[in-house]
Amino acid sequence: MKNKISPSILSANFANLQTDIKLIEPYADYLHVDVMDGHFVPNISIGVPVVKALKKITKLPLDVHLMIDNPEKFIEPFANAGADIITVHVEAITDSNIFDKIHALGKKAGISLNPETSSDLITPYFGKVDMVLVMSVNPGFAGQNFIDVTDKIKLIRESFKRDIEVDGGIKLGNIKMVKDAGANVFVSGSGIFKTENPVETIKKMRELING
Ligand code: DX5
Ligand code: ZN
Repeated sequence: MKNKISPSILSANFANLQTDIKLIEPYADYLHVDVMDGHFVPNISIGVPVVKALKKITKLPLDVHLMIDNPEKFIEPFANAGADIITVHVEAITDSNIFDKIHALGKKAGISLNPETSSDLITPYFGKVDMVLVMSVNPGFAGQNFIDVTDKIKLIRESFKRDIEVDGGIKLGNIKMVKDAGANVFVSGSGIFKTENPVETIKKMRELING
């Protein structure tokens, strides 16, 4: 399974997003876009207009992580804005057809779960999603410390054969550990953008996961 790095723009410079994205674009596989609504998580970030603007300036697939209540209402606007992968939280979904709706719009579908949420809650959806996003921090903020979810990743990997993404506190020091547990898509915000040389950091991350 191909390893992919998905830098999270939540830790980039919002006053100069294009510059930060162009810097990492040649070395990244996806661009991770964190959408927060102030209800599902205790923070507000960005929404549809920003996704639309990003689509115009990058060829990287937009990996849109919806940390919002009522995700059903927003699938279509995000799809139309240019999201390529739309991930919703199992804790927030009320309509089990949401993944079919994402696919009907021609997009890839992901399901996410918080660190304290049991993987049992997502197993019924394994046949419906392209990706599982395992949170390794409580969602809402960049720059938090990694919570060890490697046992959960291993458990999911036993029965889920498609992409497993891990998100939260991923840095050079722990990326190999989550890869060995079975993850193959790696989100990193502060672990990339807050380092002195983001490009060198991504290159080192890739060596660690492919080496
Ligand atoms: C957390 C977000 C993450 C976050 C990752 O709520 O979903 O994508 O931006 O940032 P770091 O890598 O700094 O934990
Ligand atoms: Zn995220």
